[in-house]
Amino acid sequence: MKISFLLNNRELSIDVPSDRRVVDILREDLASTGTKEGCGAGECGACTILVNGESRLSCLMLAAQLVGCSVTTIEGIAAGDALHPVQEAFVEQGAVQCGFCTPGMVLATLDLLRRHPGPDRSAIRQGLSGNLCRCTGYQKIIDAVERVAQSTTKEKTS
Ligand code: FES
Ligand code: FES
Repeated sequence: MKISFLLNNRELSIDVPSDRRVVDILREDLASTGTKEGCGAGECGACTILVNGESRLSCLMLAAQLVGCSVTTIEGIAAGDALHPVQEAFVEQGAVQCGFCTPGMVLATLDLLRRHPGPDRSAIRQGLSGNLCRCTGYQKIIDAVERVAQSTTKEKTS
């Protein structure tokens, strides 16, 4: 089937089987390899993308579900050479070890901050509970998200 959607604000029309998984479309058809596949079964969060701003697992989505949607992957959040503030916080807090979980963690963080601005550590832990880090770098990941949450809250109140 022919599907049209926005990928990182770029209009795309591609021909794919309607049951092709979105993670395969991104990684194999569109060379958007920042999206990772871990479990392939909806349990690790490595394949997290944003669809119309909401966090979704691309290993559980099929091509037909993309029609008319706006998809954001990790490749689409920096502004030119400037990292997104969430990416910057992950780097500054040393929240990246092997980096496999990082794209999914960062996108899940964007969704968390959209739904729940200014989360405390417990809300961050809860909000990212669907994203696993095999390097078990959770403390630093939470530090990074807390830092962004605090700076966003500060910006809003100043
Ligand atoms: S690869 Fe999609 S949730 Fe693990
Ligand atoms: S940094 Fe290696 S899986 Fe999280």
